Amino acid sequence: MAETGTLSRRQLVHEYEAVIVGAGGAGLWAALELARSGVKTAVLTKLYPTRSHTGAAQGGICAALGNHEEDHWEWHMFDTVKGGDYLVDQDAAEVLAKEAIETVIELEHMGLPFNRTPDGKIDQRRFGGHTRNYGEAAVRRACFAADRTGHMILQTLYQQCIKHGVRFFDEYHVVDLLIDGGQTRGVVAYRIADGEIHVFRSGAVLIATGGFGRMFKITSNALSLTGDGVALAYRRGVPLEDMEFYQIHPTGIVGIGILLSEAARGEGGYLRNDSGERFMERYAPKLMELAPRDMVSRAIYMEIREGRGINGGDYVYLDLTHLGREVIESKLPDITEFARVYQGIEPITQPVPITPTAHYAQGGIPTNVDARVVVDEVNTVLPGLYAAGECACVSVHGANRLGTNSLVDILVFGRRAGRSMAKDVAGQGLPDLDPDASEPVRAEIEALRGRESGESVNRIRTELAAVMWERCGVFREGAGLERLTGEVRDLRHRYANVKVEDKGLVFNTDLLEARELGYLLDCAEATVAAALARTESRGGHYREDFPERNDTDWLKHTLIYRTDGDPQLRYKPVTITRFQPKPRVY
Ligand code: FUM
Repeated sequence: MAETGTLSRRQLVHEYEAVIVGAGGAGLWAALELARSGVKTAVLTKLYPTRSHTGAAQGGICAALGNHEEDHWEWHMFDTVKGGDYLVDQDAAEVLAKEAIETVIELEHMGLPFNRTPDGKIDQRRFGGHTRNYGEAAVRRACFAADRTGHMILQTLYQQCIKHGVRFFDEYHVVDLLIDGGQTRGVVAYRIADGEIHVFRSGAVLIATGGFGRMFKITSNALSLTGDGVALAYRRGVPLEDMEFYQIHPTGIVGIGILLSEAARGEGGYLRNDSGERFMERYAPKLMELAPRDMVSRAIYMEIREGRGINGGDYVYLDLTHLGREVIESKLPDITEFARVYQGIEPITQPVPITPTAHYAQGGIPTNVDARVVVDEVNTVLPGLYAAGECACVSVHGANRLGTNSLVDILVFGRRAGRSMAKDVAGQGLPDLDPDASEPVRAEIEALRGRESGESVNRIRTELAAVMWERCGVFREGAGLERLTGEVRDLRHRYANVKVEDKGLVFNTDLLEARELGYLLDCAEATVAAALARTESRGGHYREDFPERNDTDWLKHTLIYRTDGDPQLRYKPVTITRFQPKPRVY
């Protein structure tokens, strides 16, 4: 039986020069940089580091190494900008494409077991939207370790962090950011093992908590992806940027959304409709299955809508049967096993049923290229707060991220975050901290735990995920988004009276899931408001009532601020350096 009681009022205060929230690729690389610089650093994670969601990134990390054919960072930058439907900040895309190369080389030197070419170089494969010579043809740019690339990155970085003495606080759930007088002062965390509240006093806090795919019914995201850091920043007055651009990946397992990597198409897999046709020919004749994800997901939905799903149903086929056993087993072992286990399909001989799945947050906490959080249209920095990885929006993905640019983003900007933090904390003491800093969140948690009657967390979360998927997925339109605005508002009201069954202190996951639902509701509110306001179609934001891109009115980033009523929307310009916006044709 669960132990019950009240949370201790003892203030357990830890002091660190730098605190990192989240232990995926961005958090771990930042920690490594800080440790190498001799900065006293704590990493807090609600999981164990090696269970972070970076581990689920399958297909590869791109860098213009040119190990198979000519390639250049400028081509990578161009593809990123065009793939993002020109909403990408080009100064950031330049950093990404240039530093991708040294990042991959450094990973190799740390011991990451990349697949190899016959002559011993890092092997590379094709991925959607990555081309040579500004769109001429697909290029091999994704470096990979079979279809376990993220998993290998996580293991490699964690080993390095341990080697360099990084201090980890595992299963500490961060429940508040301490920002006072325009200065970051630390975080409050809830220790899952015993319900004790801990305060981490620090003048440099990195949010690296990943995405919030769990606000959708069908998603590739693990249960833990609930937008914690994004929502905590939003609650503390930080705006969120470009939230309307949520990426839907074309190939997930039907009904449950588990990812079947784009690497399958990168290795030559086909998408087929009910009549066996490779339908991408009609949507992207040049790149076919390797068009950007927003286009492929829309194409799959169009086939289904027009009755060309398999047997008229709501899925199509990913066909690998022509690739042969050797390629499938050496390069795609995990995803083929997923198909066997979850679908009872043998991909070597049978086509695999797939549908799109919510996959990646392209918007998030706005930062500059040094991972410092910025809070307005003129990029004013919030001292001491940093963000990197999927929770952040340095705006390298714009309206649509290219596959394998996620791992590059989290590592390039995770590393930059660590470097910025090391520079900023040098010679600084710790900030002053209100001795009662943890009281507001402690009271919130106590009230939640103590509520005797109210709504079920599970019911609200299930309803939220269903309506978000229905009205804010691949296709959107004004009336549906209006309706969704009201639905999310109602769910928020019901959430104010939510009840947890478990009243205990020890491993009270019921309580944590209730907190996580609050974060998802915040992310959903911001996503829907931004999507309703943007009356154009661009990248992953497709409005059936406004099907064209409209650069005259909408070539700008959304900033959304939380208020006591409806969120407030503001806009900031896109940074354009080398590539002027053009129609996006593949
Ligand atoms: O399909 C994949 O392997 C996913 C890669 C990514 O999202 O970058």
